Amino acid sequence: MKSKMSLFITFEGGEGCGKSTQARLLYRRITKLAIPALLTYEPGGTDLGKRIKHLVKYSRITIDPLAETMLFNASRAQLIEDIIKPALEKGTVVICDRYTDSTTAYQGHGHGLDLSIVKTVNSMAAQGVVPDLTVLLDVPVEIGLERKKKIKPDRFQTQSWDFHKGVRAGFLKLAKAEPKRWLVIDATQNQETIAGIIWQRVSKLLPG
Ligand SMILES: Nc1ncnc2c1ncn2[C@@H]1O[C@H](COP(=O)(O)OP(=O)(O)OP(=O)(O)O)[C@@H](O)[C@H]1O
Ligand SMILES: [Mg+2]
Repeated sequence: MKSKMSLFITFEGGEGCGKSTQARLLYRRITKLAIPALLTYEPGGTDLGKRIKHLVKYSRITIDPLAETMLFNASRAQLIEDIIKPALEKGTVVICDRYTDSTTAYQGHGHGLDLSIVKTVNSMAAQGVVPDLTVLLDVPVEIGLERKKKIKPDRFQTQSWDFHKGVRAGFLKLAKAEPKRWLVIDATQNQETIAGIIWQRVSKLLPG
């Protein structure tokens, strides 16, 4: 069970929207206040997660959307058990770069896997560990992909235009369904402006 003081924040959005940038900025800002915080990411964050990340993002083998959903959730289960749950139990603020909503958006809305299947597998892995706040950095597909041009393309970046549009629409739909949990930000704005909007919300949720 999560302790009362714990705070779990996730960053979501499509390719190159700025999740890792903003997760890092937020982590630094919280840490500067001497509040214990932890920054982690999906897929990855554990030894198993790193192996799975390599498999799902960079290998050239065929991975069916259902198998993909299970691989992401295997990484997630390990991350929750080893890293996220123990930190939340200690009252550490946990920031995670992607979480269950990415699987819903990518494998569900992007690849078209039955949403009830995605939901079932996600909740099996998450074991009730639900974010207190999820930041959606929303950018048009072309802007996000353009930002990532310099780095080595992975399995997802190279998906079709329709796939990425589905992912973006999927995230927006998730946010609309749970407006209290989500903070939706126009991520075409500059990094400092976005960080300021996030801080406005997060500073109210911090312990003490
Ligand atoms: N608000 C912004 N405006 C312009 N460029 C940005 C902005 N935020 C981040 N970037 C740049 O865009 C690129 C992608 O950013 P970042 O890696 O944070 O995105 P991401 O959402 O984590 O991407 P990925 O989907 O690959 O995980 C980086 O080069 C980063 O410096
Ligand atoms: Mg990233």
